[in-house]
Amino acid sequence: MPEKKRILTGDRTTGKLHLGHYVGSLQSRVKLQEEYESFILLADIQALTTHFENPELLEHSIYEVAMDNLSVGLDPNKITLVQQSRIPAIGELTVFYSMLVTVNALRHNPTIKTEAANYGYSDMTYGFLGYPVSQSADITFCKANLVPVGEDQKPHMEMTRKIVRRFNELYGETLVEPDIMLSDCPRLMGLDGNAKMGKSLVNAVYLSDSADVVKTKVMSAVTDPSRIKKDDPGHPDICVVSKYHKIFNHGEYENICESCKKGAIGCVACKKALAGALNDLLEPFREKRAYYEAHRDEVRDIILTGSEKANRIGNETVKEVKEAMHIYIGD
Ligand code: TRP
Repeated sequence: MPEKKRILTGDRTTGKLHLGHYVGSLQSRVKLQEEYESFILLADIQALTTHFENPELLEHSIYEVAMDNLSVGLDPNKITLVQQSRIPAIGELTVFYSMLVTVNALRHNPTIKTEAANYGYSDMTYGFLGYPVSQSADITFCKANLVPVGEDQKPHMEMTRKIVRRFNELYGETLVEPDIMLSDCPRLMGLDGNAKMGKSLVNAVYLSDSADVVKTKVMSAVTDPSRIKKDDPGHPDICVVSKYHKIFNHGEYENICESCKKGAIGCVACKKALAGALNDLLEPFREKRAYYEAHRDEVRDIILTGSEKANRIGNETVKEVKEAMHIYIGD
């Protein structure tokens, strides 16, 4: 039987994951785990690029992000969870790759620019500017063939592919050029109407939120501002709640839009229906999560075993890379 192709993807460990992560990446991870050998990276070093001054904020996040991944249905017997800081190969490859990337290429990376603006950086650290190089090391240490990520990661994937091509051209065919797999779901807006759901934007529904919290958050979502009374005709095309129905309550979507346009369904009823649909989705995740919350040692073992496996692979890749670069004199 031919070996399965490999996936690597991951999340910064800067807090709990939310619905935007789910539709952008986690959902497809769950499907892909059947077909691919999947590595899921808990990117704790990348988390430091923005949080190095307050690392204590990240303390619980490694567990939280691991549990988020496990609770949506990633099976620890099928996937490999990897803690980035446990993989020295990633650090080593980052240094080698840094010779192949210009500062200007990094400065023009649109995702770096947007993030720097969001964080209000007037200048930025070398580590932050360079994290796409480190991300290329994340992806290539295990020679991943495919990287399922959201649209915002596209520039990093292009950089990874360029680094691989340049490396192979200079030193001989060593690394694998990965393909990007974009989610077929458009980026999820925040419930406040902000273009992006984000942890730092305080508009997120977390995968671990209780049913009541989900309901409260949905009830406070912004809707069509021109709709004052319940029977005013609504404009679902400009309403955040309707965008959520389309994704999370697809079967009812057309009906709800028609009723809204006619003023036959009010915003309160429409939001209640959405909260119900979201809670139907999240309930099985909460159950799995409760199990892992009660078995933290198991989560720890999953991370440690996964990281050991990743280390064996990463060390092998570093060896090949050093040989290719003629900086290896044998063990
Ligand atoms: N940059 C990604 C994010 O912010 C997280 C990440 C780190 C990642 N390393 C990765 C994603 C490698 C895919 C592959 O979500």
